[in-house]
Amino acid sequence: MLLFHIKLVVQKNRMGSTFNIGGTVMTLLLCFLLLSMVPKLEAELTTVEHAPNPDGSISFLVIGDWGRRGLYNQSQVALQMGRIGENMDIDFVVSTGDNIYDSGMKSIDDPAFQLSFTNIYTSPSLQKPWYSVLGNHDYRGDVEAQLSPVLKSIDSRWTCMRSFIVDAEIVELFFVDTTPFVDAYFLNPDGQTYDWSGVSPRESYLQTILTELEMGLRESRANWKIVVGHHAIKSASIHGNTKELESLLLPILEANKVDLYMNGHDHCLQHISTSQSPIQFLTSGGGSKAWRGYYNWTTPEDMKFFYDGQGFMSVKITRTEMGIAFYDVSGKILHKWDTSKMLDTDFYFPL
Ligand SMILES: *[C@@H]1O[C@H](CO)[C@@H](O)[C@H](O)[C@H]1NC(C)=O
Ligand SMILES: *[C@@H]1O[C@H](CO)[C@@H](O)[C@H](O)[C@H]1NC(C)=O
Repeated sequence: MLLFHIKLVVQKNRMGSTFNIGGTVMTLLLCFLLLSMVPKLEAELTTVEHAPNPDGSISFLVIGDWGRRGLYNQSQVALQMGRIGENMDIDFVVSTGDNIYDSGMKSIDDPAFQLSFTNIYTSPSLQKPWYSVLGNHDYRGDVEAQLSPVLKSIDSRWTCMRSFIVDAEIVELFFVDTTPFVDAYFLNPDGQTYDWSGVSPRESYLQTILTELEMGLRESRANWKIVVGHHAIKSASIHGNTKELESLLLPILEANKVDLYMNGHDHCLQHISTSQSPIQFLTSGGGSKAWRGYYNWTTPEDMKFFYDGQGFMSVKITRTEMGIAFYDVSGKILHKWDTSKMLDTDFYFPL
């Protein structure tokens, strides 16, 4: 803004007005004064700083749809996460939601938290921060309980918020609360009750998320941008594409050069990449119950990988390179993908 203003002043002078250094200084001072008086327009998303490793790299695992007290292979997946986590020396774990089945937490004292989280992910390599969003099943319980900072005193790894940012310098992760976007949960709840306290009025809740996300993405200086939500933008499994996210969220991600969109919700592993969008669409929802036996996708060239079973995903990021991998319940690599890009800072000269 300041630069722009100086250009205007210089142009004005070229156009013939007398060059008056005092006037210019006055204009600049006025400009500073006005800028300092502009109030902060919006509340910003809460940002958690996560320092990268000394070599600037970050690596983490991604798991979704898991909390079933160890059943449906949850414990086996957890064991393999521990093994891969140790090999990669991970920095944190990302949860794409549906953290506690079937209906979130009943209260802050619900033992499901320890039975499905603390007692399951016991490997040393998984004793790192867990950054989590809420899924639709979490909204069927006491949402405030699952979001409560009190849980941190039970298990210090737990960091769950509705929408927030994890800033790891080379990469910024934007966590988005996608459940309130889905019309069906409001219009046709199918006998389920959702805890919408804190969400209503819905329209302004959604608008605030979109505004803050857009602002956060636009201001981000990270070379890599990842968005995490519970619901898929694109999926071949039983829930399919989430049309509300395709129309409201996707344009913002595309306009701001997001690299990956990661979700759960469908209990499978998949990687979709279309010619219409530069974003990689990744589902990691294989934390426990899977094998739904459903697949519906019409453009096979866009489906890079689909696995209708349990497993998880890893992400390794350096300043110029990023690689992902999917693993099954025995820790076998099922699919890999990597990419590289120039640093934004190569073109960015701070004033
Ligand atoms: C556990 O994993 C194995 C290997 O993928 C699979 O055959 C089995 O059906 C799984 N069990 C459940 C309950 O999903
Ligand atoms: C497959 O998905 C399309 C939309 O992408 C839908 O119109 C169609 O009904 C689905 N087919 C089945 C068998 O569910």
